[in-house]
Amino acid sequence: MRDQLAQAQQRVEAQLLKALAGLNLADDRLADAMKYGLLNGGKRLRPFLAYATAQALNGTWQQADAAACALEMVHSYSLVHDDLPAMDDDDLRRGKPTCHIAFDEATAILAGDGLLTAAFEVLADSPLSDGQRLQLIRLLSKAAGGAGMVAGQAIDLNHVGQSMTLAQLENMHRHKTGALIRVAVEMGAYSVQETVEADVLAALRQYAESIGLAFQVQDDILDIESDTATLGKTQGADLALNKPTYPALLGLDGAKQKAQELVAEAQQALQVLPGDTSVLAVLADYIIQRDH
Ligand code: IPE
Ligand code: IPE
Ligand code: MG
Ligand code: MG
Ligand code: MG
Repeated sequence: MRDQLAQAQQRVEAQLLKALAGLNLADDRLADAMKYGLLNGGKRLRPFLAYATAQALNGTWQQADAAACALEMVHSYSLVHDDLPAMDDDDLRRGKPTCHIAFDEATAILAGDGLLTAAFEVLADSPLSDGQRLQLIRLLSKAAGGAGMVAGQAIDLNHVGQSMTLAQLENMHRHKTGALIRVAVEMGAYSVQETVEADVLAALRQYAESIGLAFQVQDDILDIESDTATLGKTQGADLALNKPTYPALLGLDGAKQKAQELVAEAQQALQVLPGDTSVLAVLADYIIQRDH
């Protein structure tokens, strides 16, 4: 698994460099900030999910390259903006000063805008069929926008210092983190097939829903249990901002149990899929075993 993750990281890194070079970025400082936000050592989990799903449907990683790049561009933009003073006000990301610290706030905002927009350019220019490109653009725009990730961020910021019910917390997590993880799986599937059978799609979605939520539960746990050097971002940031989190609501043990239940659900969903789902299965475990 570590090998395959490393392989996916290398592959998407090379693809991202190629994609950036094709963007004809017209301002050097903006280009530097976009590269800084994108190429600074993320785990590349969403690209890996797209690759692993393509593989599970008997496709190739190459077919999922555009999806992988677009996903990481949107994810990296969301982190650049998430760290801004108006949002979480963080100064460390992926072990380095956040984009607005390394550059300045306005440049970080624009770098995020540039990365978000570039994702759709990459999909539009990908060597897939017209139907696939349209579907990938549709899926990603829905997942990233006001029905998905951006809504999750809004819910997060609107509830700082407020209590939330478990249902509200889950709804927030499903949007802010779950939407992009779910769409990573869907985009992997549509990168190799123009149509995906309803039962296959349902199983993939169930898997993705569960690991998406588990991923954010683990993110919340790590904010408490890990340390800044391992995390590459400030430990205790949620607590300092009084963020609603799973451990805050369920306690640390309750949150860990929840994460385990979710991964078990994901493993079960995989059982109805026809192809080789071994990588997806290992990935589900990694989500809650990771230390950063
Ligand atoms: C962090 O995402 C933000 C969340 C959505 C919880 P990752 O943990 O995937 O961050 P990187 O890409 O590896 O830095
Ligand atoms: C970030 O959630 C989610 C998105 C960027 C969409 P967090 O605010 O918990 O992420 P970290 O902990 O700063 O990485
Ligand atoms: Mg945040
Ligand atoms: Mg944050
Ligand atoms: Mg967090």
